[in-house]
Amino acid sequence: MASPSPLLLVLFVFLPLGIGRSDANLYYNSCPQLFPTIRGVVQSAINKEPRMGASLLRLHFHDCFVHGCDASNLLDDSPSFKSEKGAAPNRNSARGFEVIDQIKSAVEKVCPGVVSCADILAITARDSVAILGGPNWDVKLGRRDSLAAYFAEANATNTIPAANASLSNLISSFQNHGLSTRDLVALYGAHTIGEARCTNFRQHIYQDKNIDPSFAKSNQGKCPKNNGNGDNNLAPLDAQSPNKFDNTYFKTLLNKQAILHSDQELYNGGGATDTLVRTYASNPNAFISDFTASIIKMGNINILTGSQGQIRKNCRRVN
Ligand code: HEM
Ligand SMILES: *[C@@H]1O[C@H](CO)[C@@H](O)[C@H](O)[C@H]1NC(C)=O
Ligand SMILES: *[C@@H]1O[C@H](CO)[C@@H](O)[C@H](O)[C@H]1NC(C)=O
Repeated sequence: MASPSPLLLVLFVFLPLGIGRSDANLYYNSCPQLFPTIRGVVQSAINKEPRMGASLLRLHFHDCFVHGCDASNLLDDSPSFKSEKGAAPNRNSARGFEVIDQIKSAVEKVCPGVVSCADILAITARDSVAILGGPNWDVKLGRRDSLAAYFAEANATNTIPAANASLSNLISSFQNHGLSTRDLVALYGAHTIGEARCTNFRQHIYQDKNIDPSFAKSNQGKCPKNNGNGDNNLAPLDAQSPNKFDNTYFKTLLNKQAILHSDQELYNGGGATDTLVRTYASNPNAFISDFTASIIKMGNINILTGSQGQIRKNCRRVN
């Protein structure tokens, strides 16, 4: 599947409106309260629970990697399709849907019927990153919402890579979505915030060799060895600063202190991505500028535009 070129997105957004400065201008005239409305709900959700910023950022990723950035991952089960929420990468894991509901109803109050759920996910991801100390970029807008969910695609191992994926699995998965190896490493820096469940890191802390032994041991205290015990116990993805969007995640990789096997694959002695991990670990600006470019690129994957799809009234169901 080819992703639409950024140029097409820009043309779609601006030609009809005759404005050309910032993509964020799409709703500016019709809905000047859009950005402050979303920022306010995201801020109060993060005040209540700092991890929520990570959970919201991940929802945008899991949306874009399954059939494009069309909010298909927000749909509940319906008679005509099965929700993606039960698919392997999401089950017992994807969270933040209630915050998206709150945002959607706040947005519908100020500007009924014009802002898609897919655009809300993109803006919410940006706001989460910015609030937690990361960059603040202009979000391209104009995505429309899918008419279905895609369970089989979401559940397939090559769509959203798993915690035990190898570097070559990761590279080819990103390539399938039109993203380069550089995009992979930059976007993976999102693991500077948030947490993982024991079921996703058990194998890494008990069986892998490419892990700092004392780091492995201290995490074994949180994650019993046998399957089924403490599966949902949590550990931070970036133990140095779990609620701050910064480059310390890459430093943990240099120290062999990644909690997931797939994370440590980015820095595993001689792989194609070692040099870039070292660059991001020592140069926060290089990470921030590449992350920003790559998440904008990710946000363009197979978007629906024009008369495709719809603007959902409720993100959990088609109109
Ligand atoms: C490249 C391959 C990737 C793999 C294999 C991967 C895998 C995972 C896994 C296994 C978890 C823990 C889930 C759990 O235990 O419940 C996780 C969490 C997370 N992922 Fe990724 N991920 C990848 C890429 C990304 C990207 C590109 C982003 C965003 C741009 C992202 C953002 C996050 C965030 C923020 C969390 C924490 C969520 C929370 O605390 O609720 N990940 N990821
Ligand atoms: C989803 O994927 C998991 C593991 O990848 C597999 O065990 C499960 O059977 C799949 N579920 C369905 C309903 O296809
Ligand atoms: C990851 O684990 C699953 C089962 O838990 C297995 O089927 C799959 O082959 C593993 N993948 C890799 C790359 O090791």
